[in-house]
Amino acid sequence: MCGIIGLIKLNESDSAIKDIVNGLRRLEYRGYDSWGYAALNGTNILLEKKIGRISEPSLNGQSAILIGHTRWATHGGVDEANAHPHLDCNGQIAVVHNGIIENYLELRERLIKEGHTFKSQTDSEVVSHLFEKEQGSLFDRAKRIAPLLKGSFSLVVISAAHKDEIVAIKNESPLAIGIADNEIIFASDPLAFIDKTNTTIFLTEGDIAFAKKTNNKISFEFFNYILNKSVDKEQIKLNWNASETNLGDYKHYMLKEIIEQPKVMQDGIDFDSAESLANEMRGKKVIAIACGTARHSAVIGKHIFHKIAKFSLDVMMAHEFVYFVDDLDKNTVILAVSQSGETADVMECVRKAKQRGIKVISIVNVPSSTLARESEKVFYTNCGPEIAVASTKAFSNQILAFYLIAHALQGNLKSQIINIKSVIDLLSQNMSYFDLKAREIAEYLKNKNHVYMLGRGVNFPIALEGALKLKEISYIHAEGMPAGELKHGTLALIEHGTPVILLCPTDYTYYDSISNGLETKARGAYLIGISDKPHPSFNMWVQLPQLDKENEIFYPLIETIPLQLIAYHTAVLLGRDVDKPRNLAKSVTVK
Ligand code: AGP
Repeated sequence: MCGIIGLIKLNESDSAIKDIVNGLRRLEYRGYDSWGYAALNGTNILLEKKIGRISEPSLNGQSAILIGHTRWATHGGVDEANAHPHLDCNGQIAVVHNGIIENYLELRERLIKEGHTFKSQTDSEVVSHLFEKEQGSLFDRAKRIAPLLKGSFSLVVISAAHKDEIVAIKNESPLAIGIADNEIIFASDPLAFIDKTNTTIFLTEGDIAFAKKTNNKISFEFFNYILNKSVDKEQIKLNWNASETNLGDYKHYMLKEIIEQPKVMQDGIDFDSAESLANEMRGKKVIAIACGTARHSAVIGKHIFHKIAKFSLDVMMAHEFVYFVDDLDKNTVILAVSQSGETADVMECVRKAKQRGIKVISIVNVPSSTLARESEKVFYTNCGPEIAVASTKAFSNQILAFYLIAHALQGNLKSQIINIKSVIDLLSQNMSYFDLKAREIAEYLKNKNHVYMLGRGVNFPIALEGALKLKEISYIHAEGMPAGELKHGTLALIEHGTPVILLCPTDYTYYDSISNGLETKARGAYLIGISDKPHPSFNMWVQLPQLDKENEIFYPLIETIPLQLIAYHTAVLLGRDVDKPRNLAKSVTVK
């Protein structure tokens, strides 16, 4: 987690501090406990650090070389001392860091013995002191320091004694370089500079990037400390549209991203990628690995693959799968599913699997992500940037990808597309109604401490996802469960007025699901039915459009949306910070 940014401009300007903070705002999704920046100003470093969300900078001054950081705390509490940038003993070198330096304690002890004074509890501060200790240009210092560090890190470093230089090091944590007119930007995500340029270089493991102002131009050089040699890096043009990140008339990104789903689903239909991934899977043992919402989509994918193609898909949480990866046989294919393509738990499995010669394919949203670049074949969900921490549109398009791949496996992709498109149309027609019903349900839920969501078969992982959405943005405890499991223990928690949301479209699970709903009702539950069919036991009902028997497997594309809206409106009624819920970050780049 954490977002880092570095900037080198050809000419000093008064607006450079505003520029770095604006770039930082676009990275705020990566962490928002605290933030800070450092700017070279003559022979001084101007430094400002603050707790909480990014606000206006309060320092002024000309600068051409700056770094910034937005933090999701790992080592050390949330306070100004632990916020980045971190300085050396003399306040001459400033460092921002994303990742975890695993051997920081031994480095720190050694540096303290040598007389260095530390001001924070972070793992990151060792880097500024290591740079202080070394001699030569920032490039030379970085080449000697990088091999000493263990763990995941992307770093950007500036120094008052090197007023024309900036250096960056990348290992495991992402780092991109944007090349604009008269300035170069280093950032955890190209989103930070996409309003200025789409010409990008992605650093890979072991890269050190050094930029310097000489003879009225900015030149740069690359060295890979793992390979121990200079390297050339390819510049690519990102096919991104900066306007996609605008909030428009919406109050929150989450609402915008929910409402735009029918359009985004249309954009997510990709025959070639579906066929290509299906080809990689045929005859193989396929294990999907993912975390959070992406894992829920993969569990839905398991049901879809079974129903449509009689294909068995294993699904595991990436952080648990890592304990199995050493024993995989070569007939296995890993299918990694991720919105960001940067989730550390996923990337750890991917790298370990690849080291064992296991093929990795993926379903990813961010085209420039590390996962996309490290996968053999990729299905891009094509949602555009998802800004809200709570994933919504990426989830829907991951499910869509599973439908398309399942039909490709079955060999009937082209003939099925008309059905999928008609389901998307139905969703579009029902969006305002879902929003209205979700507002009513949110009024009931807002004062409750516990909510249960139940479903069977393909509807069970939707219950998991609905509960996760409600938890993460409203902070109400919610549990998603297989409806059949309730009577094995959790039923004891149902009492008068306990909200139970029952996902029961008239598919192959309908009658059993209704029975389980009635069991909760008999114990006092307040039953909220999500179904195309009314039932006398429902205290509230969200009416789904009815799908034909042959299309019932597509209910997930529709029934997830009311749950997303229920979570959203409940969080709004409770006055929560919907797009940036407490303790979380969009991209989870630590283990
Ligand atoms: C979604 O609402 C969550 N914030 C979270 O569970 C997320 O899905 C998870 O961290 C995985 O992220 P990824 O898809 O970027 O890998």
